[in-house]
Amino acid sequence: MTRKIFVTTALPYANGPLHIGHIMEYIQADIWVRFQRMQGHQLHFVCADDAHGAPIMLKAESEGVTPQQLVTRIAAGRRPYLEGFHLSFDHWHSTDSPENTQLSQDVYARLVAAGLVYRKSIEQFYDPVKGMFLADRYIKGECPNCHSPDQYGDACEVCSTVYAPTDLINPYSTLSGAQPVLKASEHFFFRLSDPKCVAFLKEWLDTPGRLQPQVVNKAREWLTGSGEQALGDWDISRDAPYFGIPIPDAPGKYFYVWLDAPIGYLAALQSYFDSGKARANGERRTFTEFLAAADTEQIHFIGKDIIYFHNLFWPAMLKFAGPPYKVPDHVYVHGFLTVSGEKLSKSRGTGISPLRYLELGMNAEWLRYYLAAKLNANVEDLDFNPDDFVARVNSDLVGKYVNIASRAASFITRHFNGQLAYQGDTEQLAALAAAHAFQVQQAYENREFGKAMRDIMALADRINHDFDARQPWVLAKDPARAAELQDVCSRALHGFKLLSVLLAPVLPHLAAHVALELFGLERRFAWSDAASLPERINPYQHLMTRVDAKMLDALFEAEPPAAPPPVPRAASAAAPAGVAAAGAVAQISIDEFKRIDLRVARIVEAETVAGADKLLKLTLDLGSDTRTVFAGIKSAYEPAALKGRLTVVVANLAPRKMKFGVSQGMVLAASGETPGLFLLTADAGATPGMKVS
Ligand code: 2FM
Ligand code: ZN
Repeated sequence: MTRKIFVTTALPYANGPLHIGHIMEYIQADIWVRFQRMQGHQLHFVCADDAHGAPIMLKAESEGVTPQQLVTRIAAGRRPYLEGFHLSFDHWHSTDSPENTQLSQDVYARLVAAGLVYRKSIEQFYDPVKGMFLADRYIKGECPNCHSPDQYGDACEVCSTVYAPTDLINPYSTLSGAQPVLKASEHFFFRLSDPKCVAFLKEWLDTPGRLQPQVVNKAREWLTGSGEQALGDWDISRDAPYFGIPIPDAPGKYFYVWLDAPIGYLAALQSYFDSGKARANGERRTFTEFLAAADTEQIHFIGKDIIYFHNLFWPAMLKFAGPPYKVPDHVYVHGFLTVSGEKLSKSRGTGISPLRYLELGMNAEWLRYYLAAKLNANVEDLDFNPDDFVARVNSDLVGKYVNIASRAASFITRHFNGQLAYQGDTEQLAALAAAHAFQVQQAYENREFGKAMRDIMALADRINHDFDARQPWVLAKDPARAAELQDVCSRALHGFKLLSVLLAPVLPHLAAHVALELFGLERRFAWSDAASLPERINPYQHLMTRVDAKMLDALFEAEPPAAPPPVPRAASAAAPAGVAAAGAVAQISIDEFKRIDLRVARIVEAETVAGADKLLKLTLDLGSDTRTVFAGIKSAYEPAALKGRLTVVVANLAPRKMKFGVSQGMVLAASGETPGLFLLTADAGATPGMKVS
């Protein structure tokens, strides 16, 4: 029976480029999708930019553009990532779209009709200078418990006390520095605590096979919490100014971004249907018919940080909105990607730049294979280790897999003009191949990709072993043993074809090349090609190069400093000694200047770095954010003298991996022809996070 599956990955915020964590999730989903397509199932694989919310609105403002302009620019940059890593999304849309507006307003109206929305006036901190209500992350102040300064509005990073922003002593807005005032406003709430919601969610979570056990446990904890931990109702509105979808009949009120974001999955699907692409993909029904159909499977791939939204709010919204909306069939959750054991920042995703990976000429399928080899169906973190990457790709893909074809094909081309022939029981050979394919099929189906790769490589070992054991290079010297030689090589190539089919979800580009060029098929492999015995081959063409460890060094190296040096120049580790006379550098427009996000930062920690002559490691408080920056200012400053000082930082500089860690920005310092290095500072009254312009 052909399955009809609608698959999504989490929608990335439209406030920056994709980072390696996104790519990992997309690769995981893409492997599963391609595997299902190879089974002959009908897949609709969509994603979109998550465009709304205060951070995007504020970022646009700081760049002097409209939020729409910002998200359009970000969306325009997605293609190189998607194409570069062979991600086969059928459609990419945006939550800032007519489809999403209509669907979000429709879902909301249905929830209102179901009696699950109510209004309540709540008091919140308001920034009188900025003229907006402040989310917790935009409020800082002194911890009411340990009295550490500059703590966020929800919890103290020093003593870990959790509190309300109103508990902070001397609170200030990180957006303007102003003292926030309490102001009442009417908010809209989704009644998640309603007994019918709770009863539904319990049943939804407990449906066997729907979710991973770790996810069920986590969601059940939230659902059954009591006292302070009790599941509260969900605040689904935000007040203007806000970049979001207006709530009907409620001037100045917008849906909270997390309400319209998952509905964006459906908006992307609708746009895909309306564009005609679903029809081209064999789906004749309308979007609404497809969505409502009992045999439509709705599957979301997400990271573990957003379980809450996807396993409580989202199914409850869909359930009580009613048909044609249907609850998700599965939400598949993965852990985080770490790089050499270091956690990545969610927003900045430091570590590996996906575009740099591609620009260096690194093969996307190396990464796809490496991640596949480490992925399983559990919610476990996955580590990218450069040495392991080189070893695994070279040993498995090149040493084991490609090696089979490169060795066997040359005998077949030279001695048999491309013709394959088998001796003995070919039915048994095909049956054995089918059994291997079945085993790997189960692993892919269950998202146990690591197991699939291990099974595949064990098979590659066997094929290599059988090939070597029969010493084809000896057979080739004896014309009387030609049939034997042809059999050995044919079996190896049959094995190679089987491996290529099994690896096709992971290595789609390579497998297509093998299907079309080596085996002369007129189409890509289907799963059903696994067992059949190939009859001839075309001359072997080089399939894959080894990873050069130097590429990994280059991937993690700091990018070369931009020339010419700006004035005042940035005190980065790589700062050159020379200085340009003011006015000697090329002019830039005000818009170009506005693209540089300069912020006031407080140096909360300054340390020397073992093994570095020129560097100090600075921990900077940027108001809404804490950063580590390596600055080449050791010659001029004692670390202790820097603690507590204000300075200016280039906040939107791409993170740089340096020998000693990742530098997340640059502090500004002045220098001239005479010795000395002078850190910029801000006058008293400036607060961390303030924009410098
Ligand atoms: O956490 C995030 O990055 C969100 N942008 C994910 C949204 S997923 C879905 F709900 F849209
Ligand atoms: Zn504290």
